[in-house]
Amino acid sequence: MQEASEELIQKFRSPAYPGSLFLSFEGIEGAGKSSQLKRTTEYLEKKGYRVLVLREPGGTTFGERLRKAILETSKDLHPLAEAHLFASARAQLLYEVIMKELEVAGTAIICDRYIDSSLAYQGIGRNLGFKTILTIHENFPLNLVPHLTFYFKIDVETSYSRQKMRNAPKDYFESQGSDFYQKLIDGYDKAAEMFPGRIKTIDGNREMGPIFEDVRSLLDQLILATSTSDQNA
Ligand code: TYD
Repeated sequence: MQEASEELIQKFRSPAYPGSLFLSFEGIEGAGKSSQLKRTTEYLEKKGYRVLVLREPGGTTFGERLRKAILETSKDLHPLAEAHLFASARAQLLYEVIMKELEVAGTAIICDRYIDSSLAYQGIGRNLGFKTILTIHENFPLNLVPHLTFYFKIDVETSYSRQKMRNAPKDYFESQGSDFYQKLIDGYDKAAEMFPGRIKTIDGNREMGPIFEDVRSLLDQLILATSTSDQNA
């Protein structure tokens, strides 16, 4: 597996739309993304933001079609086919929704999964490597990454026990074994090492309340930093 060069990593940047925020939530199945998303939305709305929550893959008519095609597929897809399909849905989401909406000052876009899912699932889970995933994304607008990514880290046992409690039918990725989940965790750890300023790892094995305290504190820091830089602009 070839390593991504520093030059490739440097191609990724957050969009500069004054007064707007671009966030993403990441984690394996059962990480608690949905509850944190709800609390974050309420918190940002109270702060006066217009909040849009988007899910990946999806968020556009084209993206929802791809979502169905990927997640309901019963045959193994080639990892490269997967990686390109997710990137394709992402490009359309950026073009059709994210870039336009962020132009409106005071908007907060929260993506339920984004590029780091591709790094973890296709890059490590499916053995394509980070270099391949980043290369697929290196050109504008796919090189736009969130200001902040919250990675809710849980261990494989917590994931399984939460999945058992939910008892929901499993999709394409959820029916994989524990080795696959461990690879995803390794993938997220590696992504957090590669993008330390953007990806914040939060211990998701805890109760929802303390987890949200960590999210809130990081959000407050980001809001303070963006409002200070807007004033200086
Ligand atoms: P979803 O039902 O939204 O999962 P969750 O509720 O866990 O977020 O399904 C999305 C699935 O697609 C999930 O298993 C992760 C996977 N995925 C990738 O493999 N690569 C990607 O780039 C994205 C966005 C998602």
